Amino acid sequence: MSEEKENGKKEIEVFPFIEGETIDLVAFNSKWADLYCKWQNDPNVRRYARNMWPHTIEDVKKWFEPSPDRHTREFIVFTIYHKGDKRPIGSVGFSRINWVNKNANIFVVIGEPEYWGKSIAIEANKLLIKYGFTEMNFHKIYASVHSPNTRSLRAAEKLGFQKEGIIKKVEYVDGRYVDEHKFALFKRDWIKSNQNES
Ligand SMILES: CC(C)(COP(=O)(O)OP(=O)(O)OC[C@H]1O[C@@H](n2cnc3c(N)ncnc32)[C@H](O)[C@@H]1OP(=O)(O)O)[C@@H](O)C(=O)NCCC(=O)NCCS
Repeated sequence: MSEEKENGKKEIEVFPFIEGETIDLVAFNSKWADLYCKWQNDPNVRRYARNMWPHTIEDVKKWFEPSPDRHTREFIVFTIYHKGDKRPIGSVGFSRINWVNKNANIFVVIGEPEYWGKSIAIEANKLLIKYGFTEMNFHKIYASVHSPNTRSLRAAEKLGFQKEGIIKKVEYVDGRYVDEHKFALFKRDWIKSNQNES
């Protein structure tokens, strides 16, 4: 699969790692560094993604410097690639991976706001969660969402995450302190709900 330029010239070869219906998850790619930089700085995207610092292209290029061995890394990230429109539109991944306790934090950013509200975050999360439980052998996947981010709160519930607690007034967003909601999904519950679905 490849991205086509207007003149039909092939631009970047795309190799899906996980295939979905609307989207594929593709390895994070230094060739899209400009795009990742745009998403990091976009006022609408960064507002709830908690990127308070400006990013230069040099900052973003550092992400692609050699990382720790794959068995000890704390971070796995994919580009969300829209299959129909043949373009990268966001990223999804695990951070704070703990290989001993077998848990990780999940995050998602749809960097192109025109794709918001189309259930793409839900699809991307579902693909990543399946990978986390069936390939990475995670026992627990957790997420933190602050209260003004109603889309993410709704998405966490739809994905079957259970609320573990609320940390009061811990995040400073738009000039005020807001609550952080802690969500978690256990492998055993995910297996049960997926058996019921099939
Ligand atoms: C938050 C974000 C990932 C959600 O992605 P998305 O693809 O728009 O989400 P979805 O379309 O899958 O919608 C998830 C739920 O959000 C809710 N939602 C959608 N549009 C909404 C809106 N305008 N206002 C409030 N809730 C909305 C819906 O209830 C939807 O569930 P539904 O399918 O039952 O309707 C995306 O908006 C984004 O990347 N924002 C910037 C970065 C960010 O906030 N990242 C998350 C940090 S925790």
